[in-house]
Amino acid sequence: MKTPSTSLVEMTEVVLPNDTNQLGNLLGGRLMHWVDIAAALSAQRHSHRIAVTASIDEMTFLMPVKLGQVVRLRASVNRAFHTSMEVGVHADVEDFKTGDIRHVSTAYLTFVAIDEFGHVVKVPEIVPETAEEKRRYEGAAERREHRLQKRREMTESDKRTA
Ligand SMILES: CC(C)(COP(=O)(O)OP(=O)(O)OC[C@H]1O[C@@H](n2cnc3c(N)ncnc32)[C@H](O)[C@@H]1OP(=O)(O)O)[C@@H](O)C(=O)NCCC(=O)NCCS
Repeated sequence: MKTPSTSLVEMTEVVLPNDTNQLGNLLGGRLMHWVDIAAALSAQRHSHRIAVTASIDEMTFLMPVKLGQVVRLRASVNRAFHTSMEVGVHADVEDFKTGDIRHVSTAYLTFVAIDEFGHVVKVPEIVPETAEEKRRYEGAAERREHRLQKRREMTESDKRTA
């Protein structure tokens, strides 16, 4: 049986000059890159397949992260569907001088497992155990509906403009 905890990936990054803007703040795009990597590793840990990013839900950055601070990411699969998986990523910033830890961003990403020929493949089911895992599992189904609705709307709009 596969549980969300078996897909847990923890990643730690230090904010270096090349990760920042002219104010010495972490670039949003760099954080998104780290989030994508952590989530991909989690999806691959769950499915034992190459997993590609199908979509990333809206992301909000709650506070600036400064040069020299440490970003901690925790990613795990919230729910597996047929060939896709929702991965949740929680990012915190740690001030090593004070030990203070603050929440920076939470993101939900959808990954699809593919084989060596690029065909989508079925992924193992996941069984949530804790109350928190069950809450995320239920939330994942609602978020999937919203995403698939948006995907249908985009396909319709593409057809109209083609
Ligand atoms: C993701 C990808 C493999 C899906 O292929 P597809 O032909 O659309 O496959 P399907 O329509 O059969 O969908 C496969 C699964 O993806 C899910 N999916 C597809 N697009 C999605 C989206 N925008 N959001 C959420 N889920 C999506 C489907 O719901 C389905 O899930 P399920 O099997 O669990 O029900 C394909 O679109 C692709 O290769 N995209 C590029 C991926 C990539 O390169 N990412 C890196 C960023 S450029």
